Amino acid sequence: MNAIEKVRNTSPVEDTTKGPAVGRIVSVTGSQAIALVFHRPDASKKPKAEQPEMGTLLKVDTPISVVLCLVSALSAPAPSDEEGEVELWIAEIELVGELFKNEHGVPESFRRGVMAYPGLGDLIYKCSHEELQKAYSWDNEETITVGKIHQDQSINAVVKVNDMLGKHFAVLGSTGTGKSCSTALLLRQILDKNPEGHVVLIDPHNEYTKCFGNMSEVISVNELQLPFWFLTFEEIVEVLVGDRRGKDKEIEILADLIPMAKARYANAKRGGRLGMRTSDNANFSVDAPLPYRISDIMDLLNEHMGRLEMKNYIGPYKALKARIEAVTSDVRYSFMFGSTTVQDQMAAILGRLFRIPVNGKPITIIEMTGLPSEVINVAVSVIARMAFDFALWSGGKVPITIVCEEAHRYIPADDRLGFEPTKRSLAKIAKEGRKYGVSLGVISQRPSELDSTILSQCNTLFVLRMANDIDQKIVLSAISDAASSLLEFLPSLGTGECIVFGDGVTLPVRMRFDRLKEEFLPCSSTAKFTESWREVIGDNEAFLEAVVQRWRAAGTPTANVSGDQKIAEALPMEEELSEQSVAVPDVPVMQVPNEEPVSAETVPPRPMERPAEMVQVQNKGPIASALEEKQRIRDALRSKSRFFK
Ligand SMILES: Nc1ncnc2c1ncn2[C@@H]1O[C@H](COP(=O)(O)OP(=O)(O)O)[C@@H](O)[C@H]1O
Ligand SMILES: [Mg+2]
Repeated sequence: MNAIEKVRNTSPVEDTTKGPAVGRIVSVTGSQAIALVFHRPDASKKPKAEQPEMGTLLKVDTPISVVLCLVSALSAPAPSDEEGEVELWIAEIELVGELFKNEHGVPESFRRGVMAYPGLGDLIYKCSHEELQKAYSWDNEETITVGKIHQDQSINAVVKVNDMLGKHFAVLGSTGTGKSCSTALLLRQILDKNPEGHVVLIDPHNEYTKCFGNMSEVISVNELQLPFWFLTFEEIVEVLVGDRRGKDKEIEILADLIPMAKARYANAKRGGRLGMRTSDNANFSVDAPLPYRISDIMDLLNEHMGRLEMKNYIGPYKALKARIEAVTSDVRYSFMFGSTTVQDQMAAILGRLFRIPVNGKPITIIEMTGLPSEVINVAVSVIARMAFDFALWSGGKVPITIVCEEAHRYIPADDRLGFEPTKRSLAKIAKEGRKYGVSLGVISQRPSELDSTILSQCNTLFVLRMANDIDQKIVLSAISDAASSLLEFLPSLGTGECIVFGDGVTLPVRMRFDRLKEEFLPCSSTAKFTESWREVIGDNEAFLEAVVQRWRAAGTPTANVSGDQKIAEALPMEEELSEQSVAVPDVPVMQVPNEEPVSAETVPPRPMERPAEMVQVQNKGPIASALEEKQRIRDALRSKSRFFK
C-alpha cells in the first residue's frame, strides 16, 4: 500500500452532523497548521463549493470551542501525471479565532486568537452558515454593514466603527478599483447610523460633492477660510520664507516680529495706542493662534529697516518684505490672506469646519481641485493640526475624523517631497490622535509612495485590487495579522472587492462592497473614448474658448471651480449683472470678488490685496458683450458637458 492510499485508509470516522470532513490535521506550529485534504475517489465530481479554497474559513472541534482556521495555501507536493491516480493534497491553515461553546456545547461567543489548539488527527470541516454569521457578522449599535463576504454571499460584511475610526483606517488599491466608492459607502453608512458625526474629507479631485446628498457641507476653495494667524510659526515660515536654507536671518526676524504684531493687534483691540514697544509683547507666543495683521508686520519691517545703521543687514528684511508681498497677493493663498479685515472668528471657522453644531451635515467636504500641491499641503497641514489642537483643548469631547483622499500626495514617503508640517500634523494624529479622539482615514493608490509611519498606524486596512509588487510589499509590512496570506488575492480581486484586515473586522475577510446608488457615486468615472470619439464636438470655437476661459480662471480669484457647472455658476446671473452695471459700467465677465457681495450665499469672502490685473478676468466693457460671452460659454459647456464630468 503506498503512502497516499494509507492516508485514505486511515481517515477517521466523520461526524456527519457537521457535513463531510474536508481533511485531517497533521501538523500544528504556533498559529499555523497543516492538514491533509481528503482525496476521495469522487473528488473530481464534487461541486467546487464543497472543496476548500484559498481564504475559506474552516473549523476544528475542540472540547471547549470551535477553532476557526483560514486556508492560506493549497498544494499537491507530488502531482501525478497518471489519470485517476490519487495525489496527496495539503492545505496550510492559519488558526485565527474561536467560537466558545456554551454549557450545552453550542458554539456562541467569538474571540480572535486561539486558546484551545487542535491536535494531530483532528478532522477539519467547512463552517456552517450560522458559524460564519457568528464569526463575521456581529450586528450591533457600533457596527455598520458594508457588503457581503466572499465565502458566503448571504452573510453581511460588518465593520466595527469605533475600532475602524479610533485606530485609523486606510483604503488602498490601484486606480479605478473602487477606493472612492468604498470610502463614500463606508462614510455614508457610518453617518447614517451616527448623524451627529464630525468628518472632514479632503477632496483634491472634487469628486465627493454628491456622495452624501444633503448630509455634507461642501467648502470650495473660494469659500475656504484658514487665516494666516491660525498657522504655527513653523507653518508660516514655510509659507512666507519657503526653503529655509540660508534664510536663518529671515526666520529670526519673523520670530521677533510676529509676537510684536500680535501685541499691536491686541492693543488696538483694547483701544490702546498702536506701535507698542517690543517689551510689551512678552506674553504673546509666536505659535498661539492669536490674530495679527500682515500690515503690522510690514510696518514693523519698515520700522526696523529704517533703524538699521549698517546697510549690509538690510538684505534679509527686503527679501522677507518681497516674499510677503508676493504671497499675500497670490490668489491661490487667498484662503489665508484674503480676508479684508483681521477678525477673531476662530470659533466660527472651527465650527463650520468641524461641524459644531452638526446641523444635519456631519461631513465637511473640502474641494481642492485647481490648487497647486504646495497650497493643498499648507491647507491640509493647518486643518489636521487644528483638528488635533481642537481635540486636545476640548478634552476629546468631540471626536473628529480627517479623511485624506490621494494621501500619498501630501504625506509622501520621500522626505524631499511634500511639506514637512503636513506630515508632522498627520503623523501626530496617527500616533497620538487616539487618546484625544482624532482619527485619520488614508486613501491612496500608491501605498509605496505613502509615508510608512502613517500607514503603519492605520489599524484597519481595506485593500482593493493591487497589481504592483512594491505596493503589495508595503501593504504586507503594514499588516500584523496572521492572515496576511490573503494578500495573495490582491491582483485578482474584482472592482469593489477587497480584503479587510485589522481591528475594524472580527476576522480578516475577503468581501465585496455593496453597490453605491447611482446618485451617490463619486464623479470619477473613466473617460468613454469610444462614445466621445464618435460624436462631432459641435461649436468647436466656442468650446475651445470655454476651455481656455476655465483654464485661465484657475489663476484668478474665481479659481478652483470644479467643472462646467461651477464655471457657469461663477458667472454673474443676468439680473445681478444688470444691477451692478448701473453702478459700474465696465462689468467684468467673471464675478468681481471684492466688490459689494450680491448675497452671502453666492459670493464668498474675498481677498483684499490683489493686483488689479488678477481681479478682472476679462474686462469687456459693455454689458451686452458680457452677457453674450457668458451665454456662449454656457452653450458650449452644455454641448460638451461630459468632458468635464
Ligand atoms: N461600491 C460600488 N458601487 C458602485 N460602483 C462602484 C463601486 N465600487 C466601484 N464602482 C465602480 O468602479 C468605478 C471606479 O471606482 P472609484 O471608486 O472611482 O475607483 P478609485 O477611487 O479606486 O479610482 C466607479 O466609477 C464605479 O462605476
Ligand atoms: Mg478615487
